[in-house]
Amino acid sequence: MQSKKSKQELEDLISRLSKTIATAGLTLVLLVSLLLIGTFFVDVPQVRMMAAPATETQDLTEEKLPIFDAVAQSGDEQLQFGYALLTQTDELLGPLADDPSKRYTGNALQCTSCHLNDGAKDYGISLVSVDQRFPQYRGREDKMGTLAERINGCFTRSMNGRPLEVDQPEMLAMIAYIEWLDDYLEVDPATVKKGLKPIELPNRAVNLEQGAAVYNTQCAVCHQPDGQGLKNPDGWTYTYPPLWGSNSYNNGAGMNRVITAAQFIKYNMPFGVSHDNPILTDEQAYDVAGYMNQQERPQRANLELDFPDRIKKPMSTPYGPYADNFSIEQHQLGPYQPIMAFYQENFGVKKTK
Ligand code: HEC
Ligand code: HEC
Repeated sequence: MQSKKSKQELEDLISRLSKTIATAGLTLVLLVSLLLIGTFFVDVPQVRMMAAPATETQDLTEEKLPIFDAVAQSGDEQLQFGYALLTQTDELLGPLADDPSKRYTGNALQCTSCHLNDGAKDYGISLVSVDQRFPQYRGREDKMGTLAERINGCFTRSMNGRPLEVDQPEMLAMIAYIEWLDDYLEVDPATVKKGLKPIELPNRAVNLEQGAAVYNTQCAVCHQPDGQGLKNPDGWTYTYPPLWGSNSYNNGAGMNRVITAAQFIKYNMPFGVSHDNPILTDEQAYDVAGYMNQQERPQRANLELDFPDRIKKPMSTPYGPYADNFSIEQHQLGPYQPIMAFYQENFGVKKTK
């Protein structure tokens, strides 16, 4: 919304400028105005500016309105509510909510901090067609789980919070938005670029020094050298979300697994890259993911109860117990090839994450 208002203001500014130039015709005016425009751009919140062309990276939506506009013009209040909950989670369901009883999440993130481009980005943990993949078997709980329960998984881990009731209006609105995405984008569930795109895992442990170097050159400009993100001028919401510390995802989150984080980072970061034009190499993504996940973050209780069937536990889960004798450090930082070989030989299981 910010960028819309700003665009309008910018257009007004330009039209006022051209009138001035036409009448006065002074180069000085032009120079001063250029300076004004310069400051103007700096003031525009960067996320919205960059997030705007989001859906353009998707061929599917070429002739459609951007998701934001389509939702706004739909006249469907539940859909609009669901969209707002996913994109302004901190203000509506998080620490910034006016009503304390609505503070379900415990960090500065939005759902769309990770489910990029309004949940519609190819291999940006897309939410498109996800409703059609549930109910599904969940290894973490070792039972069939619904979409609402999966969403609650992100509430308690990625969002470091507490679960919603599965039938409360907020949950139903988020699901309504997710279902609407399928209809709107008309994606074939068979070809959707869901989840994350695999990388080729380096046959070595994460190199934390190289990870720090990648962080400082490729990430710190936005997420800040201390990883705490950058706040908007309102001093309240974030332009760039934190990657670690008390306002980040907790240690039980999927993003806290090095392989998951490396896949996310390689094809989505620095912000603006897509899966067909990455900037980082597999090695850089792996190292920086390891570096990021070695930093302090909120700790979730009772994680030892996850994955009752330990053979199903993803090998880069950073906490035990495991069905093997590899060290916690190796589970956190690799090398993973020996772990993969172990599960293949002993259990006939092919591990990928
Ligand atoms: C810190 C990043 C992060 C945040 C924030 C986050 N998620 Fe997730 N989410 C993930 C990861 C990682 C996965 C698992 C992806 C994988 O393993 O392929 C996931 C999976 C999901 C899935 C299942 C996707 C699938 O393809 O099966 C849903 C649905 C989901 N999240 C909804 C939400 C909602 C709703 C919110 C906000 C309340 C949210 N997430 C916040 C990282 C995040
Ligand atoms: C140009 C600014 C920019 C750069 C550079 C950048 N990011 Fe991000 N990053 C973002 C934004 C913005 C988001 C949230 C996306 C959204 O809200 O649409 C994000 C989200 C994330 C997330 C998920 C949300 C969270 O806070 O946990 C991770 C993880 C992440 N970035 C890691 C990295 C890493 C690692 C690098 C360096 C390789 C990097 N980013 C470089 C802007 C940036």
